[in-house]
Amino acid sequence: MGVRVRVPAKINLALKVGPPRPDGFHPLATVYQAVSLYDEVHASWANPEEFEVSVSGEGVAQVPLDDSNLALRAARLLARTHGDHDSLGVRLSISKAIPVAGGLAGGSSNAAAALLACAALWDLDVGPDALRSLAAELGSDVPFALLGGTAVGSGRGEEVVPALARGTYHWVLAFGHLGLSTPAVYRRFDELSPDATVPEIPADLMNALRSGDPRQLGPALSNDLQPAALDLQPRLGLLLEAGLEAGALGAMVSGSGPTCAFLAADEADAVELSVALSTDGLCRAVRRATGPVVGARLVG
Ligand code: C5P
Repeated sequence: MGVRVRVPAKINLALKVGPPRPDGFHPLATVYQAVSLYDEVHASWANPEEFEVSVSGEGVAQVPLDDSNLALRAARLLARTHGDHDSLGVRLSISKAIPVAGGLAGGSSNAAAALLACAALWDLDVGPDALRSLAAELGSDVPFALLGGTAVGSGRGEEVVPALARGTYHWVLAFGHLGLSTPAVYRRFDELSPDATVPEIPADLMNALRSGDPRQLGPALSNDLQPAALDLQPRLGLLLEAGLEAGALGAMVSGSGPTCAFLAADEADAVELSVALSTDGLCRAVRRATGPVVGARLVG
């Protein structure tokens, strides 16, 4: 009984970051891509005003189960704004494959999935625009997790527009031994980049996406947060080099890291690359994924 939603991880094919705004957030010009590494959120009825969450799978020990849990906050926000809060309750059960604090928007994707699952479970009259604005309130990456595909993000990342992109790309994701705190990475970015300017989407990346050719996309990948992530975890530099030596067309830290994303020419190359990276001891685990894939969707 209940509702199940599947939601993908994201990587940033470009992440251009400007100087901090008065509210502390950074203006971004980013290109998101949703990739086939999924968490699932199951929502079932609980007594009125009972909001509970349980988590299984990848990195469970690090996921808070109290009211700071982003999926729980999403459920409460939806109940408060679009339902009769006193009569609603939910039991969320999250099954995780996306690493926690990995730079893949794991927490944000769980919040997006919780919004969708609760809207369906409670049979609320809430349209896509309203869901998107609740998503933006919950976090910068949450609206993209609803949308999926390949999209350009602006504002603090919460304003998303689908991008023209051809083809399917083969990625190898290498998970770090330790997570990285997103605010800490942004703080180090500020220290390392006192002259940051207004961010712009790189034209070569958009051209590469239109071509559908991974050989064009590889050298066009970029991440302004990468120097900050490498500064906090210098061994990530060795991991990126190892991937390029093993034949990756492009390599970068994903978002605020520490997950590194490697682009392969095709599925066979991705298999070879993932074997090479899993045997060199520089990362905790390696997963293959393709992108783009759709955003959060009901699956039962
Ligand atoms: O929006 P979200 O809650 O995911 O952001 C987490 C943290 O990352 C923020 O509190 C902020 O420190 C940092 N951040 C930022 N600029 C952005 C997005 C996130 O400084 N555009």
